[in-house]
Amino acid sequence: MTHTAFTARRQRLLAKLGNGIAIVPTAPERVRNRDSHHPYRFDSYFWYLTGFPEPEAVAVLCGGAVPQTLLFCREKNEAREIWDGYRYGPEAACKAFAFDATYPISELEQRLPDLMADRSVLWHSVGHDTEWDTRIAASLNAVRAQSRNGKRAPREIHDLRALLDEMRLIKDGSEIDTMRRAAVISAAGHARAMRHCRPGMAEYELEAELIHEFRHRGANGHAYTPIVAGGHNACVLHYVENNRVLAEHALVLIDAGCEVDGYAADITRTFPVSGRFSTAQRDCYEVVLAAQSAAIATIHPGASFMAYHDAAVRVLAQGMIDLGLLTGSVDGAIESEAYKRFYMHRTGHWLGLDVHDAGEYKENTDGGEWVKLQTGMTLTVEPGLYIRAATDVPQHLHGIGIRIEDDVVVTDTGCDVYTDAPKTVAELEEVMRRD
Ligand code: GLY
Ligand code: MN
Ligand code: MN
Repeated sequence: MTHTAFTARRQRLLAKLGNGIAIVPTAPERVRNRDSHHPYRFDSYFWYLTGFPEPEAVAVLCGGAVPQTLLFCREKNEAREIWDGYRYGPEAACKAFAFDATYPISELEQRLPDLMADRSVLWHSVGHDTEWDTRIAASLNAVRAQSRNGKRAPREIHDLRALLDEMRLIKDGSEIDTMRRAAVISAAGHARAMRHCRPGMAEYELEAELIHEFRHRGANGHAYTPIVAGGHNACVLHYVENNRVLAEHALVLIDAGCEVDGYAADITRTFPVSGRFSTAQRDCYEVVLAAQSAAIATIHPGASFMAYHDAAVRVLAQGMIDLGLLTGSVDGAIESEAYKRFYMHRTGHWLGLDVHDAGEYKENTDGGEWVKLQTGMTLTVEPGLYIRAATDVPQHLHGIGIRIEDDVVVTDTGCDVYTDAPKTVAELEEVMRRD
């Protein structure tokens, strides 16, 4: 991995800091139970600026006439490295990650007050981690205690996320390359699950096929807990038990994506366990697919973030009427929000280092306008139709749950759908053909 992209981001952030100071800690290691830890995952903001993979690290960026980028990290420790693996240590980290200076993390507390002194603004993720709030407040107090020696503590504390979210919203070339790699691997995972699916298998057996493909192709693992939902389980939006048997005549919905170098893909496919759609399943599926196409067609620079949701809702509402789920007109179903009984979530979200990525959805204006799409933004397009059994719902549709989710990057002229797994009825039936 090259570090040019990370240093470029630090330079861009420095330019926004004035003579302020930004403090960006990475995530702590977290205990899972007793002395076992969760697999380590760095903080996304820290990673965005550093590419430094170890825990117990803090980036400090000092703006002003002579800007400085500093990294505090663990020291080399042969004994710990025998048990836990390689640590860069400050000296190697300085070169490898192109910081102006690096220090042992144990020196942070002592150095921070001097670094903060006489700066106008302190930037950090206020309230994200109370332990860091406390540590930073202690350093501020240490500067204030020096006021009779002429030192001034920053008067303003701003949320660093306001700056970084804005930057993270528009992906640079290296981010888009990485996201495309995550998409290719995730799509291969979905295709593998389709090929291996048989009636009578358990949902977790398909989950196993996904992780096989993800790890086999070098992804870190899942970017989020995968959903493998057979039949009516698909109508539970966050179903993650993945432990039921797949019935022959059911659909199965898989929402899964891998993480590559910190970046997520987020793909959903829904297909028949038997490999052949029933008429009712196909009718519902075509509605969701048409909603997704309509949504994608509205995505271009300058379009409001809401436009593609509105486009999907309109097609879904018409489909609900055609399927006999709703009566009346499309406008009426939208106006009354009757469609929400069968489609209750948004049509997508920003995607990046976090599966629900950083970035505002509304402009910072009094009008509360939805954000306008710009070239380089990455988002998901994921309409769905979830038909729970009820006495007033046609029985042949009971328990059908469908979502189709792809990832797109906004281009100068529209958008590029960069997730490519079988999707049309014909493609799905072809990839699942058993003869
Ligand atoms: N996998 C989470 C989502 O689709 O938003
Ligand atoms: Mn998803
Ligand atoms: Mn999603």
